[in-house]
Amino acid sequence: MLKTYRAVQFTEYGGPEVLHVVDREVPRPGPGEVLVEVRAAGVNPLDWQLRSGAVAAMMPVEFPAVPGGDVAGVVADVGKDVADFAAGDEVFGSIGFGSYAEFVLAPAAQIARKPGNVPWEIAAGLPVAANTAYQALCDLDVKAGETLVVDGAAGGVGSVAVQIARHLGAAVIGTASERNHAYLRSLGAEPVTYGEGLAEQVRTIAPNGADAAFDAAGKGSLPALVDVTGGPERVVTIADHRAEEHGVRFVFAGAGAIRERLEQAAALVVNGELTLSVARTYSLSQAADAHRESEGGHVRGKLIIVPD
Ligand SMILES: NC(=O)c1ccc[n+]([C@@H]2O[C@H](COP(=O)([O-])OP(=O)(O)OC[C@H]3O[C@@H](n4cnc5c(N)ncnc54)[C@H](OP(=O)(O)O)[C@@H]3O)[C@@H](O)[C@H]2O)c1
Repeated sequence: MLKTYRAVQFTEYGGPEVLHVVDREVPRPGPGEVLVEVRAAGVNPLDWQLRSGAVAAMMPVEFPAVPGGDVAGVVADVGKDVADFAAGDEVFGSIGFGSYAEFVLAPAAQIARKPGNVPWEIAAGLPVAANTAYQALCDLDVKAGETLVVDGAAGGVGSVAVQIARHLGAAVIGTASERNHAYLRSLGAEPVTYGEGLAEQVRTIAPNGADAAFDAAGKGSLPALVDVTGGPERVVTIADHRAEEHGVRFVFAGAGAIRERLEQAAALVVNGELTLSVARTYSLSQAADAHRESEGGHVRGKLIIVPD
């Protein structure tokens, strides 16, 4: 096996320019870990929030650091106590750090088997989006026959939440800019435009308001979402840190149920109920550009990094 591998690394907080491709030594997996040969890595806003230092108070970075929480790849080696994976297994998972690389160490508990017919890019784009969408819909207790509003429905988390909610039997109203309205319809949501007049727009589709609302954008829609659901009880956000002011729950998707949720999401991909738009793929040396595009805030679906 190779002794060194290429990885995107940063050694200080800063803009996208702090990211550099370097050679690192291939590590041996420790207890509970597997070594994954990366086929594709998903880009999440948390990756650049960690890189810039924006979340340093809550989540300080240990330098040198390799970004990337989402990974899909092939198991190259396993730690002594890992019984559920073996070299050659195709896997995907949500692992926190390190996936913008040719190899990464992953906690075995945070990866799942990738069905053979799910493309690498799709598998790499799913983990954080699916884990977060399931967490939010579970906290909202969304049921068949209900109407759910998803704010930021064209993004990574939002687009997956729309489709899981449809699978659960809910009707979905999703917010996006005009250019993404046809895309939202293709996912099974009724599109409306975010911003001023959001509550009125929702009521043109659901005159009695909605049963629940998921703020997957964090761009100031909470008052409108509380308005259309009649109160804050069935509104959650994953990105608005003013949640408390509005009496709304802030949802953080932890690692507890990751494998089960990844398996559920992959099963929906396999049976055609869940698709993921891959907006663009980048090589390792283009990781800074991937961050710039993600920071722009208008990605349809996911950006993916593929080791070149
Ligand atoms: N708490 C957690 O556990 C957790 C987990 C994952 C993500 N997050 C956070 O959740 C947020 C979304 O994550 P993501 O991965 O889905 O991001 P993303 O894929 O980058 O989301 C981009 C989407 O946001 C939409 N958007 C832009 N401005 C908007 C606005 N003013 N109102 C509504 N939608 C708007 C865009 O749609 P248009 O192009 O149509 O404008 C675009 O499709 C991020 O802030 C992320 O850090 C939190």
